[in-house]
Amino acid sequence: MEKEWWKKAVIYQVYPKSFLDTNGDGIGDIKGIEKKLDYLVELGIDAIWISPVYLSPQIDNGYDITDYRKIDPMFGDNHDIYHLIDKAHEYGIKIIMDMVANHTSDQSVWFQESRKSKDNFFSDFYVWRDAKEDGSEPNNWGSNFGGSAWEWDQNRKQYYLHYYAKQQPDLNWENPRVRQYIYDMMRFWKAKGVDGWRMDVVTSISKDLHFPDNPNPHGKPYVVGNQNNGPRMHEFIHEMNQEVLKPFSMMSVGESPDSTSQDATLLVDPEREELDMIFTFEHMHVDRAQSGVNGRWDIQKMDLIKLKKILSSWQINLRGHGWNALYFENHDRARVTSRWGNDKKYRYESATAFATILHGLQGTPFVYQGEEIGMTNPDFEIEDYEDIELLDNYRELVLEQKTISKEAFLKAARKISRDNARTPMQWNETDNAGFTTGAPWFKLNPDHKEVNVEDDRKKDTSVFKYYQTLIRLRHECKILTEGSYELLYPEDPNVFTYKRMLDGETWLIVVNLSDTQFELSDYLPQVLKKETLIIANYRDRTNTDGLLRPWESLILAIS
Ligand code: GLC
Ligand code: CA
Repeated sequence: MEKEWWKKAVIYQVYPKSFLDTNGDGIGDIKGIEKKLDYLVELGIDAIWISPVYLSPQIDNGYDITDYRKIDPMFGDNHDIYHLIDKAHEYGIKIIMDMVANHTSDQSVWFQESRKSKDNFFSDFYVWRDAKEDGSEPNNWGSNFGGSAWEWDQNRKQYYLHYYAKQQPDLNWENPRVRQYIYDMMRFWKAKGVDGWRMDVVTSISKDLHFPDNPNPHGKPYVVGNQNNGPRMHEFIHEMNQEVLKPFSMMSVGESPDSTSQDATLLVDPEREELDMIFTFEHMHVDRAQSGVNGRWDIQKMDLIKLKKILSSWQINLRGHGWNALYFENHDRARVTSRWGNDKKYRYESATAFATILHGLQGTPFVYQGEEIGMTNPDFEIEDYEDIELLDNYRELVLEQKTISKEAFLKAARKISRDNARTPMQWNETDNAGFTTGAPWFKLNPDHKEVNVEDDRKKDTSVFKYYQTLIRLRHECKILTEGSYELLYPEDPNVFTYKRMLDGETWLIVVNLSDTQFELSDYLPQVLKKETLIIANYRDRTNTDGLLRPWESLILAIS
């Protein structure tokens, strides 16, 4: 097996709950993933990242784990996943599991034992602190889902820390036993054939043991000097690398919310032996209002100049020092076509335009289920949403603190909430879109009659077919994986243009991210002697004469 297989790979994320239900209970399951392996082979992807399917009370849709080694009955059983891993391997597809090791569910045996007393084996598995003299929380940190990051436990008469929901207590990584338990669990899954890990909020595992107050009173957990990344973060990740990742050749991509490209160079520098890649959030915040007090719910129009700047900084700073993980969508992000594109008049064009930007860059592209057919955000009402983050924030910001109106919150939710990506996968135009024969656990996007796999694949303007070509190009053309990167026209507010270069060859990626048309020649670097069209989302595009139409994207080999 090639050691750095992931550099040429495209990875597909499955959110199992919403992918395919095979037993009619309305919940997607592991057998559903297996049933669609053919489909994924046709798409051409190399690996599947499976969001958590472990035993869980589902407070945060499986990101609250009760038992890391047991599959939740709602998804099937352990045998099903072992079978899926073997089957996927027969097809040449690798399996990446989700590792949620910053916290567990409060239902896990570890936590149940830990809360019993201050002197049992599990007492120090979590982050416990005494109350202040007046009985209040140890500091002013807020949880990422709203409310305090501390929860009082009446039994232990102490507070425990939770960066997310109170049902997700944070593990104490200072305790070497915790770390060994996690590494053992990783070895267990390696023995079942798992090829790598997507690591949930892994840069939060080390806490600042001084527990400083956040200077911002509405602040999140805080580390002096470095927002989120605690003092021993690199040390712990390196240890995990030495104990598991390196000896067992497991791929790793860590979620790293606050990282900039400078932080990233430490995490993914191969010489430091920490992680292979990280997911940053930086480029996903280009539609967040800076001045807002409501966090992600204070939205503004997407700033393309800023997006270009951020993506370019990652391309340039990581070149030769590490590898990029490329994404626009996942289970925490809205559908990019609705968020930053035009999902009404130019749905196919904007879906393929964003795909072109992403797959033209250096790094490993991640495709989130449904992205490959240009699925959109549903226009839900507050009552329709399920997500704990959204509902907790709604209660806190709209109903209690009243810092944002219901209308503004709903408008933001329809644009950026996590639930936008969690509606069931749209396979065909039947009532439940082929997702289930029962009652779906979550409302479908009403547009599934028009937007679904079966229909898309019949069309000339098929998003799926466009992805197939992009993925094939990634496999075949070294210039995409290895070529250098140069941004052109950084100040242009509508068009994203960049070059990739390798061994005297130059490719030009031009993507119009607007409803307006421009002269294409304005975006070409020079008089062209020769041009070869590699891919274009308007089918009548043959050369560089004429207009660059709304949301038009193309890749050209030029000289
Ligand atoms: C990550 C996950 C998200 C989850 C959170 C807490 O950000 O992607 O879905 O809610 O961590 O586990
Ligand atoms: Ca099911």
